[in-house]
Amino acid sequence: MPKTVLIASDHGGFALKGALVQNLRDTLHLEDLGPESAGFCDYPIFADKLCRRLLDMGEAAQNGEVLGILVCGTGLGMSMAANRFAGVRAAVCTCEFMARMARAHNNANVLCMGERVIGQGVALDIAHAFLSTEFEGGRHLRRIELFNAQSCKS
Ligand code: RB5
Repeated sequence: MPKTVLIASDHGGFALKGALVQNLRDTLHLEDLGPESAGFCDYPIFADKLCRRLLDMGEAAQNGEVLGILVCGTGLGMSMAANRFAGVRAAVCTCEFMARMARAHNNANVLCMGERVIGQGVALDIAHAFLSTEFEGGRHLRRIELFNAQSCKS
């Protein structure tokens, strides 16, 4: 399990962020990076905030000690914004299997979910699967290193 979990959303993911915070805060060190209210806001701003905080943690952001959760309406915009950062591997997950694979094979360090796509119960199960699965390394590490080398293509 990670030592720290960062979480943020936009207005489209605000209610689900609240449910996740409530569920996770007693057992994990959770940093809620906002927003603090449900008013309209722009998801790239909160993706940016979370990714900078994650990458500031150095090696801990790469070895599973710190993981992020971004929630918007679909999970898509958040994942696009987050994956612009070298060293961030953000994965939109809609089921537990995807969440487990995102950690085990892709060493994803940010989970993205869509409040308008999945219900709260499913989202909580996905979050637990993501947070409790370790990266398997081995051949998967070689592949991660390959796409790290490709992250500055234009
Ligand atoms: C906001 O209406 C919505 O576009 C946003 O939450 C997200 O789904 C974008 O990908």
